[in-house]
Amino acid sequence: VLNTSSLFCFILMQSITHPLKIAIIGASGLAGQELIRLFQVSPFAYSLSLFASGRSAGKACPLSGQLYEPLDHFGQGEYDYTFLAIEDALAIALQPILLEKSRYVVDKSAAFRLHPDVPLVIPEVNGGVLSLGAPWVSSPNCTTTIACMALAPLHRAFGLKRVVAASYQSASGAGVRGLKELEAQVHCWSQGLETHSPEVFPQPLAFNVIPQVGAIGPGGISSEESKLLLEMRKILELKDLEVYSTCVRVPTLRAHGIAITAFFEKPLSIPAAAEAWGANPGLAVQLDGYATPLQASGSTLCHVGRVRQENDNAHTLSFFVVADQILKGASYNAYQIFEHLERLKKLNCEAII
Ligand SMILES: NC(=O)c1ccc[n+]([C@@H]2O[C@H](COP(=O)([O-])OP(=O)(O)OC[C@H]3O[C@@H](n4cnc5c(N)ncnc54)[C@H](OP(=O)(O)O)[C@@H]3O)[C@@H](O)[C@H]2O)c1
Repeated sequence: VLNTSSLFCFILMQSITHPLKIAIIGASGLAGQELIRLFQVSPFAYSLSLFASGRSAGKACPLSGQLYEPLDHFGQGEYDYTFLAIEDALAIALQPILLEKSRYVVDKSAAFRLHPDVPLVIPEVNGGVLSLGAPWVSSPNCTTTIACMALAPLHRAFGLKRVVAASYQSASGAGVRGLKELEAQVHCWSQGLETHSPEVFPQPLAFNVIPQVGAIGPGGISSEESKLLLEMRKILELKDLEVYSTCVRVPTLRAHGIAITAFFEKPLSIPAAAEAWGANPGLAVQLDGYATPLQASGSTLCHVGRVRQENDNAHTLSFFVVADQILKGASYNAYQIFEHLERLKKLNCEAII
């Protein structure tokens, strides 16, 4: 077991011998900016290279003053870690050069999440699947991460059978453009101006609720609902898990909430659920209250509230979980994957169970 003082010594030694070379691709976006903030308060010694599109290249990062570089400069360097905060198609196109130039790639896109050779990791849930031999690691879909944080401890204790969920997903889940579209609609409404047709969301989002996140695919299931099912099965290693979800976009700026009813093999009580949740340091549980998206914004924790058992059914539990989807749903989770890999390097072993 690696205790805090030995990790500190390791970081100190590493900072003297070899500052880590870190690249962030998509550094000017919402997830990229949060990652830069996390590195700014990180104890690790590192040098950071920031890449963005031609729209941002040459401009200064508002957080560090460093200039964003165009993507074609990436091949000129060698990196210990590259974080991807870009869309799926670009991650796929860049894969060969990333594997050539970077020892590890931590990918926040959905491009390779379901690939059998790619670990799909939430460190508190399945950090044990991380290994120094796997150069490409995916960070799960934000809604999936938040749901799994609350469900995994319950699954370990009581055996998860089925999940029924409805999500309340903020505008920033669709990146800078999603956030700007909502802000522009609210501005137009407050000024009595005519709103432009929406470009990012399928309907106007201001003062509305849209029961569609991502494209609607076969069987009427949206891409977000499909991610929730398939990624949850992979992370929890439950290939037959039943997940019934409706993913909904709501006009909040930040943080995703999910109302969940879960069904278990074994009976459980609310105190027993609270005890199981207590084992996950990334959760903040309120048995007599709840957190809202505004309260969860800026927090790295997943906040569980409205805990109850309905219809006197001891095999079920209903609750509301909400978390900052840019932090725990993306950048903080990716940063934790990096920390975990650095711990593995220190231990020089293949996995921490
Ligand atoms: N937002 C969330 O809540 C969230 C949660 C989980 C996962 N993710 C995933 O994280 C990734 C980034 O999401 P985001 O919300 O941060 O998106 P975003 O705010 O739209 O930022 C996208 C980033 O990609 C860059 N980019 C776009 N085209 C590029 C190109 N051709 N070459 C180089 N860079 C390019 C943009 O640069 P410019 O600024 O120069 O255009 C920007 O830095 C996506 O895969 C998303 O699915 C996001």
